[in-house]
Amino acid sequence: MLKVGLLGAGRIGQVHAASIVAHSGCELVAVSDKFEDAAAKLAATYGIKAMSTDDIINDSSIDAVLIATSTDTHANLIEAATAAGKAVLCEKPVDLDLARAQACLKASAPHNKPIMIGFNRRFDPNFAALKRAFDNGEIGQGELLSITSFDPAPPPVSYIAVSGGIFRDMAIHDFDMACWIFGGLPEKVSASGSSIVDPEIGKAGDLDTAIITLTFPGGRMAVIKNSRRAVYGYDQRVELLGSEGLLSAQNVLENTVEKITTSGAVSAKPEYFFLERYARAYGQEWAAFVDAVKEGSDLPVTLEDGINALAVAEAAAKSAREGRSVDVKTEILGG
Ligand SMILES: NC(=O)c1ccc[n+]([C@@H]2O[C@H](COP(=O)([O-])OP(=O)(O)OC[C@H]3O[C@@H](n4cnc5c(N)ncnc54)[C@H](O)[C@@H]3O)[C@@H](O)[C@H]2O)c1
Repeated sequence: MLKVGLLGAGRIGQVHAASIVAHSGCELVAVSDKFEDAAAKLAATYGIKAMSTDDIINDSSIDAVLIATSTDTHANLIEAATAAGKAVLCEKPVDLDLARAQACLKASAPHNKPIMIGFNRRFDPNFAALKRAFDNGEIGQGELLSITSFDPAPPPVSYIAVSGGIFRDMAIHDFDMACWIFGGLPEKVSASGSSIVDPEIGKAGDLDTAIITLTFPGGRMAVIKNSRRAVYGYDQRVELLGSEGLLSAQNVLENTVEKITTSGAVSAKPEYFFLERYARAYGQEWAAFVDAVKEGSDLPVTLEDGINALAVAEAAAKSAREGRSVDVKTEILGG
C-alpha cells in the first residue's frame, strides 16, 4: 500500500484527494496547506492528518507526495521531496522559468526517484484513444495536428497577473499534447495573439486569444487555437490528419440527448470546465502514477516532458512578442 501525502488543499488539490482516496492501491495519510484551515478542512473530510509541508516531506513512513500547491513552489518541493526519498506527482507547470525547471531536473535526478508532471489531458479517454490509434498506424503518417482549447470564461485579472501568461499557464497543456502526439519537440514556433475578450487582460500584459503554429521535424505541422472565452463551455477538441485518414476527438457534452424537430437539431453544451471534462482523466492520471511507482516502470509523463512544454511556451511567448518565428533548439534551448 503506497502511503501518500498531499501538498496543497486548493482547487486541484481537492480533486486529487478524491482520486487518491478512490484508489485501492494507496492510502492518503496527510495533507498540508499554507492556509492551515484549508488543510484542516480537507483532513477532516477524509479522516486524515493535517501536517506541515516540511513534516510530510520528512516523514519516512510516507512513500509519495502529490504536489498541488501554487506554481511558484513546484521546483523547490520537487527537489525537497526527491531528496527525502519520495516519489512525486507534481502539477503543471514545473515552474514559470525554463532555467529554473532545468535546474530542478539537475538537482533531483541524482536522487533517482520517480517524478511525474500532471499533464492530465493525456489521460482523457478520448485523447488517449486518438493517440493509441495513431501509434497503431491507423491513419498512416501524421501530417497536420489541430488543437482547439478554449476556456469558458477568463480568470480574474489578478490571476492573469501572476499566471505567467497564456502560453505558460494555459497553452502549456496543448504544447504537451502536441509534443506527446508527435513524439518530441517542434523545431519552430510561431505565435500571435490579442486581448479581444477583455482589454484589462491586455493592460495586465497578457493575451486572451492566441494562435500558435508548431513545425515538427519532417515538416509535420500543428496549429493550436486558444481563447479564454467560449460562452458555450469548455471547448477541447483534437484533430489529426494523416497520410491515410483523419482522427478527431470531439467535445464531451453534458448529456447525450439530441432533440430534432422541424426547427432543427439541438444537443447539449460541452461540459463546463476542466473539473467536469477531465474528472476521469485525473483519476486515470493518478492510477498511472501509482502503477509506475509500484512496478518501477517508466512514468507516462516525465519531468523532461514538463520542461519541453515549458520550452515551447517560452518560444511562443518570444514569437508573439517579437512578431517572428522562433527556433526552439538554438534560441530557447541554446543547442
Ligand atoms: N492539471 C490541471 O488541470 C490543473 C488545473 C488547475 C490547476 N493546476 C495547477 O495546480 C496548481 C494549483 O492550482 P489551484 O488552481 O489548485 O490553485 P489554488 O490556489 O486553489 O491552490 C493552491 C494551494 O496551494 C497552497 N500552497 C501554496 N504554497 C504551499 C506550500 N508551500 N505548502 C502547502 N500548500 C501551499 C495555497 O495555500 C493554496 O491553497 C497550479 O500550479 C496550477 O497551474 C493544474
